[in-house]
Amino acid sequence: MALPEILTEARDCIDARLEKCGMGAGGGKRPLVGIIAGSGLGGFVESVAAADAIPFDEIPGLASGNVAGHAHKWILGEAAGVPIHVIAGRRHLYEGIEAVDAVHAVRTLALLGIRLVILTNAAGGLSRKLWPGDLMLIRDHINMQFRNPLIGPNIDELGPRFPDMSEPYSLAAGAVMSRAARDEKVELKEGVYVALLGPNYETAAEVEFLRRIEIDAVGMSTVPEVIAAKHAGLHVLGVSLSTNSHVNTPAGAETTHEEVLDIGRQSADKFSRLMTNALPKLAQLATSPAFAK
Ligand code: HPA
Repeated sequence: MALPEILTEARDCIDARLEKCGMGAGGGKRPLVGIIAGSGLGGFVESVAAADAIPFDEIPGLASGNVAGHAHKWILGEAAGVPIHVIAGRRHLYEGIEAVDAVHAVRTLALLGIRLVILTNAAGGLSRKLWPGDLMLIRDHINMQFRNPLIGPNIDELGPRFPDMSEPYSLAAGAVMSRAARDEKVELKEGVYVALLGPNYETAAEVEFLRRIEIDAVGMSTVPEVIAAKHAGLHVLGVSLSTNSHVNTPAGAETTHEEVLDIGRQSADKFSRLMTNALPKLAQLATSPAFAK
């Protein structure tokens, strides 16, 4: 199947804005890295020197949802001297959208020629080692949304029918992040993320089940984007912010969206320091032959 028009329209829209703000082809400022900042780690967005900020409503296929805590704009700019796309806010399956609609931004990034996408999210801790405010490098995931953005005719221009998923999260990019964390004395844990549909948080029995299959963190996003990114030949880095713990709490403790956002705000600085240190090295990695398409 050929590229859907909505994708080429989105690509052309962002392309025109890149040109307009001097980040187009040929100027040496075209981004090779994109970041999709979920609720929680959106604070990093404030540290970006924006050359342009495009409301989702102006981008074909990205009409905004309205979850509190999401700014919903596509920023073209620089962070730590690195040209970057920063997508503040994402669509979630719990809104009732299709999986393909949840991956529109990441596919648009792929069409714009980026090589590395950084996906961040807020997640509930299931491992005893994860406390609210902890950052976790996602090592692997389990798709318990049982939806897949690749279902339907394959878009051959994006990638193959049966994409490999043996390294969903780039080991090389993960190593850069771990080094940056050591440099910055930021604790970066590591673990397996599971995506559920939500929007409700987990029952005690679900928590027990997920712990038994040795999941470290649970959330409601990211996995469809990783699948679409890998399909399109991108390298992926995933970081979860543990905003609440399902185990290091008194039995029966409640989880609220407010605490999720609150911990996000408190942890913004830590994540910004980590990204500021890592981004130049990640951008370098994105130009390496191993990251070439
Ligand atoms: N469960 C699912 N998604 C989440 C959680 C959680 O506990 N915390 C933040 N996002």
